[in-house]
Formats: sequence, C-alpha cells, structure tokens
Amino acid sequence: MKAAGARVLLTGASGGIGQAAATALVAAGASVMLVGRSPAQLATQARALLRESASAAVKPQVEWYAADLTRTSSVAGLAELAAGWGCDVVVHNAGVPGFGRLEALDANEIAQVLHLNLFVPMLLTQALLPHLRALPQARIVFVGSVLGRLGLPGYSVYSASKFGLRGFAECLRRELGDTGIGVQYLGPRSTRTAFNSDAVVHYNRATRTSVDDPQVAARALLDLLQSGAPERFLGFPEKLAVRLNGLVPAWLDSAFAKHRASLPPLEVPAALSLECPPSPAATDVDTHSLMHSTP
Ligand SMILES: NC(=O)c1ccc[n+]([C@@H]2O[C@H](COP(=O)([O-])OP(=O)(O)OC[C@H]3O[C@@H](n4cnc5c(N)ncnc54)[C@H](OP(=O)(O)O)[C@@H]3O)[C@@H](O)[C@H]2O)c1
Repeated sequence: MKAAGARVLLTGASGGIGQAAATALVAAGASVMLVGRSPAQLATQARALLRESASAAVKPQVEWYAADLTRTSSVAGLAELAAGWGCDVVVHNAGVPGFGRLEALDANEIAQVLHLNLFVPMLLTQALLPHLRALPQARIVFVGSVLGRLGLPGYSVYSASKFGLRGFAECLRRELGDTGIGVQYLGPRSTRTAFNSDAVVHYNRATRTSVDDPQVAARALLDLLQSGAPERFLGFPEKLAVRLNGLVPAWLDSAFAKHRASLPPLEVPAALSLECPPSPAATDVDTHSLMHSTP
C-alpha cells in the first residue's frame, strides 16, 4: 500500500514516536487524523504539518481529535468520525509505560497499561471493522515493542500488554485473510521519548541497551506500511534475541542478571524501614520483630 494518498488515523500522535510518524506520513503524501488528549497541542501540531506540506503537489488533509481513549465513548466517537473521514489506515500507537518490579506497581497502574495498550486497540479495531471491510484495501498497524516478543526483568506488565497486542494482531491477520485488510505489527526497541522515565534511562545505560531516535521508528512504520510485511522488529541484537526467544526461550533465561541488578530497589514500606525513627508508640518488642522480618 502506498503512503501517498492514504488516509491514516494515528493514535498517540502527540507523543515522541507519534509526532515523528505524523511528519513522515505527511511528507510521504498521506493525510492524517491526529489523536491525542490535548486540543491545543494537536491544533499546533496540525498547523505545523500543514505549513510543512504547503508546497506539496497534492495537499494532505490534517485533522485532529482530542480524547482520553480509556473512555469507551471516546473510542466509539473516534471510530465514527474516522469512518466518515474515509480512513483506510489505522495506526494504533497510543501507549503508556509500566516499568519496575511487579511488587512496585499498583493495581491502577497495571490496569491503565493493559487498558490503553491492549483493550483500547481491540475496541477501536472492532468499531472500525465494518467501515474497513467495505474498502478494497485497508491496513491496521499496531505499534507494539521488541518487548512484545522478548520478556525482560522490570517489564512484566508492559510486556504482557505488548505480547497480547502481538497475539491479537496475529489472530486478526489470519481472521481477515480473505478481506482487503492487512494487519501489521511494529516492534520498536527503546526509543528516546518522554515515555521513558529516569529509571528506564538508568536501566538502559547500565545494560548497554541501544536507544533509537523517534525518527527511526517513524521510518520503520512507513516502510512497514508500504512493504505489506506482517511484522518488523527494530535493532540488532534485539531482532536476534526476538528470534531466539521465539524458538528456545529457556536458553535466554539466564542472560538477564545485569538487567535484574539495574532495576530500582524495592522500597521498604516506611513501617518496616530500619532507618525510620522509631515512632513514639513503638515498643522494643515491635522493633525486634520488625528487624527480623527485614530481609
Ligand atoms: N519510547 C520507547 O522506548 C518505545 C519503545 C517501543 C515501543 N514503544 C511504543 O510506541 C508507542 C508510542 O510511544 P512514545 O515513546 O511515542 O510515547 P509518548 O511520547 O509517551 O507518547 C504517548 C502517546 O500516547 C498518548 N496517550 C497516552 N495516554 C492516552 C490516553 N489515555 N488517551 C489517548 N491518548 C493517550 C499520548 O497523548 P498525550 O500527548 O495527550 O499524553 C501520546 O500521544 C507506544 O505504544 C509505546 O508502547 C515505545
């Protein structure tokens, strides 16, 4: 499928990879509907994209839609608008991170990651399928991650969302095999955006993990769209690790001691911390038993 003339619904358009992807798509002649949460930011981004494409022979359309996609009504509203606009490519790129030892993540954070990274793409795809099925040719692209095929310490919940997304994409590609809808999965490796906290930056440095600029992921997205390949993972040795992990996952189990050691330490709850000044109510007996329960 050619990017020129495509009408792309792009979620997460205001983020690091999303902005680079929108720029690359518009430069290639695609029209885009930008989706994020901040109307002011999306309006500014849309104006800049239109300015940059002012001299293009065929002027692309740039629309935007601001909504929190974790609200089910927003997903339905977006699908209706995108269908009316004639979108023929959907890029599911909105996502939130979840980094840290499992015990350090609270239930809300876990639910947020699974909801936005997995449940929202499922619902938005479902809502758009009647429209996409009626087109001679359409594409659904899921922006996953290398961590959607390779589990690393510290990424249990995030990886679960991206492994899930990959499984969803694979099933859907086969389910829609007799239609004009192609389904693709892009697996970027770590990318320099606001997505990654200081703790992730430290982890990446300590484990010598390479980090790409968002333009690398954006170019890969454009190439994937135009190539029609089912999936693509970025970076070496990540690609090799993904393949090995698919074939013999147990071989890799002992390869991540440095990653484990680079995780933020588990915070000892204040009540158990030995460095906490004893509370006025604490007795010698309490302190003694707490010291024994501290690892
Ligand atoms: N950065 C990496 O290292 C990396 C590596 C591999 C894969 N990825 C994947 O690439 C995708 C983009 O990542 P990024 O690095 O560009 O992240 P980012 O800069 O943090 O951008 C995230 C995007 O998601 C949107 N978003 C977040 N919560 C939302 C919600 N509730 N409703 C609607 N939109 C919401 C944000 O909108 P607002 O601007 O309104 O917040 C923003 O546009 C994600 O799916 C991520 O998992 C990232």
